[in-house]
Amino acid sequence: MRRIVLSVAASAATLSLAGCGVLNATGDSTSASPAKGDDITVGLLLPETTNTRYDKFDYPIIKSKVADLTGKQGKVAYANANADSAKQAGQMQKMIDDKVDVILLDAVDSHAIAGEVQKAKDAGIPVIAYDRLAEGPITAYVSFDNELVGEVQGRSLLDALGSNAGTATKIVMMNGSPTDPNAKQFKQGALSELNGKVTIAASYDTTDWKPENAQANMARAISQLGAGNIAGVYSANDGMAGGVIKALKAAGVTSLPPITGQDAELDAVQRVVAGEQYMSVYKSYPDEAEAAAQMAVSKVQGKDIQFDALTEDKVDSPTTKDIPSKLVQVSALTRKTIKDTVIADGIYTVGEICTPKFKAECNAIGLK
Ligand code: GAL
Repeated sequence: MRRIVLSVAASAATLSLAGCGVLNATGDSTSASPAKGDDITVGLLLPETTNTRYDKFDYPIIKSKVADLTGKQGKVAYANANADSAKQAGQMQKMIDDKVDVILLDAVDSHAIAGEVQKAKDAGIPVIAYDRLAEGPITAYVSFDNELVGEVQGRSLLDALGSNAGTATKIVMMNGSPTDPNAKQFKQGALSELNGKVTIAASYDTTDWKPENAQANMARAISQLGAGNIAGVYSANDGMAGGVIKALKAAGVTSLPPITGQDAELDAVQRVVAGEQYMSVYKSYPDEAEAAAQMAVSKVQGKDIQFDALTEDKVDSPTTKDIPSKLVQVSALTRKTIKDTVIADGIYTVGEICTPKFKAECNAIGLK
């Protein structure tokens, strides 16, 4: 996706001219009704609860930003699908029936939800794809640079392997859910770093991103390859890294190989401190969630200049071209960068990470 974004950056001048045209018109096809005031409802559809980010960061940050932007009059109607795509379609239908003003959609299954996206559009409700690129006629998209996430993970794994990396070095790849387009990009980004440098001896997609599925797949990899022959594990996120570690420990491994992750979940950060997980990817949830709230409110209120300024990137989905987008940058979280990432951004306090169990390790890396 980054490649697409870079190639369109060159045509930014053309894009902003097109933007002016829209400004002078009565609004684009997704804002047929007159602009609203502050008394608005933003529908928020999030995909799952196993990963702590959604309830802990995405929802509360979006809620408070919408309140800030609307003098406390705007509301967020929130529904979580618990990794069930049919349930999410029902939740989205209800929001359409309830006539919310705009929908932020983080799809469980980006392809399966396209029919609901079309229904929302037909009802005059703009849909902004949140974090995962939903198919169908969406108005805009906000996410992280997901291919970069995979590159950062792949590069970190090679760093951790150091001189142990070689074409005979076997690693296992634990990828995310096949219905999540981000998972494909994480994998592509990681493979762009790993291919030709190590051998990917086993590779799995993980249904619904569930840690227990990753654990079961890791147990399979161990029985196939032998625990001692696995030099490293690419895990696409932290929850699955937890499952991978359980499987390795169950197989009697005491000195764990380098394992990657993503999301900077609190228990993963503690595993990084303890040296059980090599790294995670820190994604600034405030940057993504606040941008989403701003996009939603400016869209509903017809503030086109603000909306265009927020969505200067362009991406293509399998169904829709040139989607106005914002892609937020990410960085690696290792023992060395905990301070500059999650602590610096106020995501966790040192006290939350450095509980008595992790005190000694925290002291050793200067987390006080
Ligand atoms: C991805 C998302 C990650 C993580 C993962 C598992 O789409 O970008 O941050 O949440 O889903 O839920």
